[in-house]
Amino acid sequence: MKRVFSGVQPTGNLHLGNYLGAIRRFVELQNDFDCLYCIVDLHAITVPQDPAELLRAAREVTAGFLAAGLKPERCIIFNQSQVREHGHLAWILNCFTPLGWLNRMTQFKEKAGKSREEAVLGLYAYPVLMAADVLLYKTTHVPVGEDQKQHLELARDIAGAFNRRYGIDLFPLPEPMITGAATRVMSLRDGTAKMSKSDPSDYSRINLTDGPDVIAKKFQKARTDSEPGVGYDPERRPEAANLINIYAALAGLTRDEVCARFADAQFSAFKRALTDLAVETLGPVGNEMKRLMADSGHVDGILRAGAERASALAQPIIAEVERAVGLHQP
Ligand code: TYM
Repeated sequence: MKRVFSGVQPTGNLHLGNYLGAIRRFVELQNDFDCLYCIVDLHAITVPQDPAELLRAAREVTAGFLAAGLKPERCIIFNQSQVREHGHLAWILNCFTPLGWLNRMTQFKEKAGKSREEAVLGLYAYPVLMAADVLLYKTTHVPVGEDQKQHLELARDIAGAFNRRYGIDLFPLPEPMITGAATRVMSLRDGTAKMSKSDPSDYSRINLTDGPDVIAKKFQKARTDSEPGVGYDPERRPEAANLINIYAALAGLTRDEVCARFADAQFSAFKRALTDLAVETLGPVGNEMKRLMADSGHVDGILRAGAERASALAQPIIAEVERAVGLHQP
């Protein structure tokens, strides 16, 4: 049996990278697999958050999931903090994770920066909580963007260490699913930096709630080189390559097909076509998100029901873990 789990942090705005790298793929998978999609608020508090904004952002991510096409009848949508077993399993897995493994995590190094001594323990232990998220449901497949690959390799290592320690096959080793043209969407201002919620420039990203005029302006101002044509050369023309990847992912084409379609076009004409395609695809998602955000009762109801269903799946698995470890059971 295949089980799919993935998570999105409720921080800042959902952007095109989250949509193409993750959420749109979640939607495809819900028809064929048993899927859980989680708003990971416990991960979000590894950096300081404003409480009211955190709650708002959790509802916004839920609205984004629904607007993109996730259906609560086909998958489980829930908030991480509402299924207490996530924190419980994370503690147990902390006891199977050598510091040497955590010291290799590049995201911690990037986020902690120079002030490593001031970085909080939660930020350091973040990848163990992520392993717990996945293993708590005996997940087999995890759709994510490229940036999460290292964390998922760690989750596999932790699962293996646990299984070996007790000589059992309790946790399946989760497979990352990192596929498609847009597994790493780059900033519109710098083709060598990832599109991210934390970039101070809003012009670096397309937010799912941006209206048509804003989308048009952002693509128009997107950095490009001085070559006139549409050619895919990520080394020499990283910004152009990024826009080609975005077009390919939005249109469901390969890069080569995109380049062939615009073989005789000026880059400016390609940018206009990309804008039209983005407005056409993202416009309805953004509008539906805004509609859902105005109905927080509906969104909260979905999260409540989702947490109950996720909890019911987690209970027997955590009981199995407790039995293996020798923890007291009620
Ligand atoms: P987060 O919230 O940063 O991002 C959510 C998802 O969006 C993908 N993504 C991108 N994909 C392509 N291009 C980009 N520029 C881009 N930016 C973000 C991410 O890869 C991710 O799939 N640690 C995770 C959340 C998490 C999780 C989990 C994921 C917690 N527990 C368990 C999977 C399984 C994170 O911070 O994602």
